[in-house]
Amino acid sequence: MRKPIIAGNWKMNNTAREAEALIAAVKPLVKQAKCDVVVCVPAIDIPAVKKAIRGSKIRLGAQNVHFAEKGAYTGEISAPMLKEYGVQYVIVGHSERRQYFGETDETVNKRTLAALNAGLIPIVCIGESLEERESGRTEEVLARQIEKDFVGIEDFSKIVVAYEPIWAIGTGKTATAAQANETIGFIRKKMKKIYAGKNVGRMRIQYGGSMNAKNAKELMAMPEIDGGLIGGASLKAPDFAAIVNFDQ
Ligand code: 13P
Repeated sequence: MRKPIIAGNWKMNNTAREAEALIAAVKPLVKQAKCDVVVCVPAIDIPAVKKAIRGSKIRLGAQNVHFAEKGAYTGEISAPMLKEYGVQYVIVGHSERRQYFGETDETVNKRTLAALNAGLIPIVCIGESLEERESGRTEEVLARQIEKDFVGIEDFSKIVVAYEPIWAIGTGKTATAAQANETIGFIRKKMKKIYAGKNVGRMRIQYGGSMNAKNAKELMAMPEIDGGLIGGASLKAPDFAAIVNFDQ
């Protein structure tokens, strides 16, 4: 069985002080959580959040990682730097990074391997745009990402994949539970085929895109969906907690 994993992606929100307040509000609400709970926070919030989550079930995540261990990469943060701070998870290849910061399948792959190398669990994001879905190219786009983003991984139980249809991110347009389930099923099948014998069956796949307190239960009831990557709703304590407690 795959243990469900609910992760908040705060994106570029919350100063360190605001982060402390949000964690303080979330903490008592997720005490009974049965799933893995993660918050992926802006890098500069990491020290404050590390302190704030003490004694709770919440685990620390980052939103990006560079592929080199160190060197002349102004503005970047390496996997060993995150690791030393107690970070356990890191989002890689979010569509916003692909869209606004020139992330490619090749760099996503390199960052994923760097994260694994340092003992971090990468949450690798894949997904199609609206135009790609409407022109019937969803599977083709996902297949390309699957072929390129995961090259060189030996044990897929050590990674998480987030299927985030770009058209559902921050738009209030959620994929229907059936749509998300079907596409995630496709991803799992395809990955099992390409990366046979590498533990793909134990890899968790999240859905992301306008997941909220109202639709979480239905999405999480789907057999292929192992969790959620939550943007907007992770910024409000009661909403995030309601998603985490989807099974209660
Ligand atoms: P929203 O939940 O705000 O749509 O964002 C989803 C997302 O991009 C999570 O990484």
